[in-house]
Amino acid sequence: MPRNSTLPASNSTRGTDLGIGLGLRVPHYSHILKERPAVDFFEIISENFMVPGGRPRYHLGRVLESYRVVQHGVSLNIGGPEALDVDYLRRLRALTRETRTPWVSDHFCWCGAGGAHLHDLLPLPYTRQAISRVVERARQVQDFLELPFALENTSSYLTYRGSTLSEWEFVAEIAERAQIGILFDVNNVYVSAYNHGFDPVAFVKQIPHERILQIHLASHTNFGKYIIDTHRGHVTEPVWALYRLTIEHAGSVPTLIEWDDEIPPFEVLHAEGERARSERQRALEARARGATSVDETAIREALAEARRVSCTERPGWQQGGPREILTAETPLASE
Ligand SMILES: [Fe+2]
Repeated sequence: MPRNSTLPASNSTRGTDLGIGLGLRVPHYSHILKERPAVDFFEIISENFMVPGGRPRYHLGRVLESYRVVQHGVSLNIGGPEALDVDYLRRLRALTRETRTPWVSDHFCWCGAGGAHLHDLLPLPYTRQAISRVVERARQVQDFLELPFALENTSSYLTYRGSTLSEWEFVAEIAERAQIGILFDVNNVYVSAYNHGFDPVAFVKQIPHERILQIHLASHTNFGKYIIDTHRGHVTEPVWALYRLTIEHAGSVPTLIEWDDEIPPFEVLHAEGERARSERQRALEARARGATSVDETAIREALAEARRVSCTERPGWQQGGPREILTAETPLASE
């Protein structure tokens, strides 16, 4: 399907289709190492494994014996006010040599200033000035890592008065000018659409589809006035529909399930991955017919219905799930 964009034609950044992956989380280590379940690939949070040695690297080594691993980061601070952290980049690059990840990703965000790390993925102002800055830094990162680099659209809960562009214009222009990939988080599109009142279908249609290296799927929690991407629970039906719409435009992009809070037994996570596989196949078949499997009106109606729902669930979650400490007295996960 043609993309409605005024941006110049780009070189594709699309890599190998790795299939359907799952976020590698500590509570599942024992099961994975013992049962070696069929999983196309695992995604790790890079920062959880950047210190050589210790329990995290031991478990990562065991996983690498049987699985493809891709790296996803949360601390690059691509939009921050200070120079890129070269020591961080060196450690990140060293880890890529060990995992043999086909690409590295982080987020369109800033997460620290003045030496403070805020442990949050804060949105950037959607301005020409911010675009130029992120483009320059993203190129530097990609050159330094000597690997395809992608940035992920975040979920957000605030906007800046100074923003002059839509989020998808911001994301698209950076990806094209920096010649990097997009890690397209479909749930984040839905969450931000709810929080800021834009059309998620327009976002999916306007993004440069040939630049999508990977897709994230996750769940969110509706707190009434706003939605948070808690990564808690099953992917919702409107997000599945947006996912199929993305695949119908982008083709067979590798897709990952993120589940970071109230992490279920591995079988539940695995079944969510198999749902993604069947949804992706349905969308690819529609694409091959030149048809669509998506009712765009139903997506917009679901969003409107969600606005009428309020809930009292607790907020708070940690990307990547519970952390594993470097030295602990509990036994290592084993086969
Ligand atoms: Fe994500």
